[in-house]
Parts: sequence; C-alpha cells; structure tokens
Amino acid sequence: MQRDMAKLRAYYADAPSDISLDDIDLSRMPSHVSFIMDGNGRWAQARGLDRTRGHVAGVDSLRETVTTSVRLGIDVLSAYAFSTENWRRPQREVNLLMHLFATTLVKELPLFHQENVRLKFLGDLDALPKDTRDVFQRGLDETSSYDGMTFALAVNYGSRAEIARAARLIAQDVSAGKLSAEDVTVDAVASRLYTAGLPDPDLLVRTSGELRLSNYLLWQLAYTEIYVTDLYWPDFNRWEYLRAIRAFQGRGRRYGGV
Ligand code: IPE
Ligand code: IPE
Ligand code: MG
Repeated sequence: MQRDMAKLRAYYADAPSDISLDDIDLSRMPSHVSFIMDGNGRWAQARGLDRTRGHVAGVDSLRETVTTSVRLGIDVLSAYAFSTENWRRPQREVNLLMHLFATTLVKELPLFHQENVRLKFLGDLDALPKDTRDVFQRGLDETSSYDGMTFALAVNYGSRAEIARAARLIAQDVSAGKLSAEDVTVDAVASRLYTAGLPDPDLLVRTSGELRLSNYLLWQLAYTEIYVTDLYWPDFNRWEYLRAIRAFQGRGRRYGGV
C-alpha cells in the first residue's frame, strides 16, 4: 500500500533511544498485522481504577494503532475486541463494552473517511445489542467504497464458532447439490470464514504477556509470526508497533520448507 513518507517521518519524530523508523525496512513490511488487545483490566487495576476505565483507555491505543497502520502503509489491520467467551464477564462490563463499541465507532468514523479506511467485522453480530449493530452497519455502509487500508474488528468472534459455521455452510451447499464432497478444499473452507477475501495475518501482536491465542483466528494464524509484549494494551503505542515489526523482520519464515 502507498505511504506518505513526509507524514510518516513526522509521525515518527522524537524517537526513544532503542528504536526509530530507520530500524525497519519499509520494503519488507507485513501486509496484514493483527492484534489481541489484552490487559485493559490489569492496566486499570494497577492504577486503582475500575476495570472498565481500562477499556476506555484502550480506545486511545486502538486509535493510535489505526493511525500507525495507515502511516506505515499496512494493507490490513485486524484486532480482537470481544470474544465469544467474553460474555462470561460481569453484565456491567459487557454492557459498558457494547456501549463503548458503538460510541467509539460513531466518534471515529471521520478518521476512516479521512484516511480511506474500509471497515469490516469478524464475528456473529446478530447477538449484539441493536444500537451497537446499527452503528456497525452504518460504519460498513459508509466505508464500503474505500480502498486504502482494511480495518477488521473482531467482535463476538470465536475461532471455533467460525470454523463450525464454515462447516455448516459447506454442509448446506453439499446437501443442496451446489458443492461436491471432493470440492471441500482448503479454499472452500477459507472462503466461508469471516476473513474471506483477506490475506492471513503476517504478524500477530498480543499485549500483556499472555502466551496463548484465546480462540482467535486459529485457522488463519497457521504461519503467522507472533510477537508478545508485556505492555498492557492501553500502554501500546507507535514505538512498540515498530519494535514488533523489527522483530518480525528478523524472523526467517519457512512455511514448512527449508
Ligand atoms: C482486553 O482486556 C479487552 C477485552 C477482552 C474486551 P481485558 O479486559 O481482558 O484485560 P485483562 O486481561 O483482564 O487485564
Ligand atoms: C482475548 O482476551 C479476547 C480479547 C482480547 C478480546 P481475554 O482476556 O478474553 O483472554 P483470556 O481469557 O486471558 O485467555
Ligand atoms: Mg484479558
């Protein structure tokens, strides 16, 4: 994707001592970067605040991550915002999150317009409160013609549910005679996932130090490079993003070959 070098240089002025824009190779950037945005609750608790304050602070990190991705010329950004298991949290926290998704999207739509960002959602949106769903639909409608970066937000997303859904869709096509059993290929499955049409992530970043996938993109992450930082999500910023890319560029990707 195109990037505006003047804007990028200005965005990455005032570098800390350990990392700068010169440490990464702009000709070898990941095409799709994905984030497990974890640690909002711990960030808040460490400050003696209610967990929900961490989610509010996390919105600022997500905004910075969208802007950073655009400046760096990333093609696809995806982020895990709410899992199919997160419904187990206290009702009050779930309500706050659903409300935050809606209000944030309305507030941030101008950024998507300005930066030519196309919005996508990964997950089952039918189970979301109606006002959240309506705002998401508005976001989809208003950005569907944009051809800059794609921003895919995973909400009520679970990888196992996603794969089961793909199997269901395939079974329906087979029983309707539209697909033969021999045609159930890797591509046939991939095209029925929420990520259909998107490249697999090249780089997965998880914040707050947990070394697990938590039911995120199990199929799509098959050959993704993983970077885990101890920073809590509200502390994630453009510099840690550069460190993640520097680590990514130091890896040798073999895809099972030599
Ligand atoms: C991630 O932060 C945000 C969501 C899952 C919605 P957490 O809320 O999981 O924060 P921790 O992991 O409890 O610190
Ligand atoms: C993963 O974080 C889900 C999101 C970031 C939305 P969790 O906090 O839910 O994951 P676990 O429970 O630590 O595995
Ligand atoms: Mg967590």
